[in-house]
Amino acid sequence: MFKVNENYLKLPGSYLFSTIAKKVNAFTEAHPDRTIVRLGIGDVTQPLGEPVIRALHDAVAEMAYAETFHGYSPDLGYSFLREAIASGDYKARGCEIEPDEIFVSDGAKSDSGNIQELFSEDSRIAVCDPVYPVYVDSNVMAGRTGTYDPKTGYWSNVIYMPCTAANGFIADLPKEVPDVIYLCFPNNPTGAAITKDRLQDWVDYANKNGSVIIYDAAYEAYISEKDMPHSIYECEGARTCAIEIRSFSKNAGFTGLRLGYTVVPKDLKCGDASLHDMWARRHGTKFNGAPYIVQRAGAACYTDEGRAMIKSLVGYYMENARTIRDGLEKLGYTCYGGVNSPYVWMKTPDGMTSWDFFDYLLENAGVVGTPGSGFGPNGEGYFRLTAFGSHENSKNALERFAKL
Ligand SMILES: Cc1ncc(COP(=O)(O)O)c(C=O)c1O
Repeated sequence: MFKVNENYLKLPGSYLFSTIAKKVNAFTEAHPDRTIVRLGIGDVTQPLGEPVIRALHDAVAEMAYAETFHGYSPDLGYSFLREAIASGDYKARGCEIEPDEIFVSDGAKSDSGNIQELFSEDSRIAVCDPVYPVYVDSNVMAGRTGTYDPKTGYWSNVIYMPCTAANGFIADLPKEVPDVIYLCFPNNPTGAAITKDRLQDWVDYANKNGSVIIYDAAYEAYISEKDMPHSIYECEGARTCAIEIRSFSKNAGFTGLRLGYTVVPKDLKCGDASLHDMWARRHGTKFNGAPYIVQRAGAACYTDEGRAMIKSLVGYYMENARTIRDGLEKLGYTCYGGVNSPYVWMKTPDGMTSWDFFDYLLENAGVVGTPGSGFGPNGEGYFRLTAFGSHENSKNALERFAKL
């Protein structure tokens, strides 16, 4: 009889978004006359920009002729895209990243879930609390964690780094040294961004202790303040301790197209083992490349027109973030995030739990958000609202809050 990977059986159900969906469905069945404003899921809503659509059409047209048809793409990505990324996202910010250190993929979720394969089974991982759940769950599947305690919401054998209002939602350097540290800035769900000095502390800590940082910069395009690094490679020494993961989802609206990339510098080594070579080997074995058409669309994001498109899309969502955050603050709520990120992290009023506030808001305002406790025990007492809706939706949500 075959045996299953029992690590999967340790995973509790993924309750967060399914519970939200169930509650919303029950509400709409009970109140067919009421409309719902959804500020819950972190998916974009605005259509793809003109330069991307044009690049897609052109690439599709190429596929119709033998001379310009493209089959399998290179495993690591087309050089036209890797060069555009190296120069547009890194050289332009003074970071030394070469095109052959960039691995094009179908998105940041796959990369942030797969990257753990490079590390030994007994590696100790550290994650922020609250956290984007993929980092922990992918390590559970790989057997790197102990058991889940439903009472505390924590896995044994994982180092949790609390992110609270007291530390500005930026984790303190852990006393117990982890092997692999997951950081995400600007952060999902708290919306916090990290300054260059603080990130430099993390890089120095990792280099000193022999840890590796997995840096998820999926929301980099939302940084609006000056002192915030867009890439971890803006910090000195990051080439020897950090892997960076990026996405085209939130800046250019590729959530449905699927495109991302991971940077693994050649200087990142464990003894003689090169993480760059190992990731290249993994990519070559398990991935057959992102579609040519989509990579062409990705490259269009680095033209002048493409940059203007991203600025406009990000500007659109950030106007929503301002509407939501400023509006809620005027109503007396305590809010964080929403300045360098499309997420507003609000404190629930009157000491309500995250789920009690979810129910209260749905019932009384018909507004849906995400309970902070769904992202980890330190998310309890918080609620995440996304700026990815339309202007109308965001304003409408605020009007509903005002009537509570
Ligand atoms: C922190 C973070 N990383 C990665 C992703 C996934 O990005 P992609 O669409 O590129 O898979 C998300 C999506 O919500 C996210 O919040």
